[in-house]
Amino acid sequence: MADAAQALRQGGLVAFPTETVYGLGADAESDAAVAAVYAAKGRPARNPLIVHVADRDMACRYGAFSASAQALAERFWPGPLTLVVPRRENCLASALVSAGGETIALRVPGHDLALDLLRAFDRGIAAPSANRSGRLSPTSAGHVMEEFLDNPHAPVMILDGGDTRIGIESTVVLCAGGSVTVLRAGSITAEQVNAVETKHQKQGALLSPGMLESHYAPRALVRLAASAPQLGEAFLAFGATGITGETVRNLSPSGSLEEAAHHLYAYLRELDALGLPAVAVMPIPEEGVGIAINDRLRRAAADRGL
Ligand code: TXA
Ligand code: MG
Repeated sequence: MADAAQALRQGGLVAFPTETVYGLGADAESDAAVAAVYAAKGRPARNPLIVHVADRDMACRYGAFSASAQALAERFWPGPLTLVVPRRENCLASALVSAGGETIALRVPGHDLALDLLRAFDRGIAAPSANRSGRLSPTSAGHVMEEFLDNPHAPVMILDGGDTRIGIESTVVLCAGGSVTVLRAGSITAEQVNAVETKHQKQGALLSPGMLESHYAPRALVRLAASAPQLGEAFLAFGATGITGETVRNLSPSGSLEEAAHHLYAYLRELDALGLPAVAVMPIPEEGVGIAINDRLRRAAADRGL
């Protein structure tokens, strides 16, 4: 852990597990280190990064928290919730993490390795998901290795925490201008956010630059709402089905949405690696974390023209 913190101090990239997906971490206060994250991912500079912090005190070094933002942080941190708040005056975080804007995304991850690293480093760590831009997010250290093979900006170290518990990225919530807007669905649902904050508004998607792109895409084409695979298709099933085979994975035979989220990216990776032209995906109920799963699947299936 001391070596990892030292690597960050020297401007190196360190990949680490969180409860959602693996992050590609850099010193959030160093322009050069944050620039290396964008370079490693091939990420457009207009798409800002989440700064991970050890606790609410560290978050307040960077962001200005409204009463709503404070209430959400108190309720859900550490955990899979990212709060986008105005940068505070004299915020030391690199302007690059905000893509030049006036807000900053902050999160206290619910994972011991991530928290140990943050405490050892004693500074915010800018960390997008540790995948090349637009590809599937990594839920194991092995996935991170696959993403950065032969990449000159590959992380100098990967902290291996095994498979991530949740498997799908954090819920992103904008708290600015007196309102609270869910920008990205996650395992914390809009209902749960609403229960804490009633001034929630919809239609926030365009405010989160990362949501403009085709994202979370495997190489294979993705066909949604399939009841069975067609010729040349791998099959991603959900719930009780009679369909099995080498080209089939079942996200949760028992129909658990949490289990499905946990397996989603790993199974898409496995099916993608078969090299078939397409992956057919069964319908997933649009409730709870199913909302976030469907959000990612729709993006995976979206036009790749962008
Ligand atoms: O679970 C997660 O959130 C993972 C782990 C590593 O923490 N991180 C992650 O980061 O998914 P990334 O960069 O792949 O996604 C961050 C999302 C993007 O959609 C980005 O546009 C949005 O958060 N975001 C970051 N800063 C923002 C800001 N200042 N305003 C609006 N959206 C922002
Ligand atoms: Mg990502």
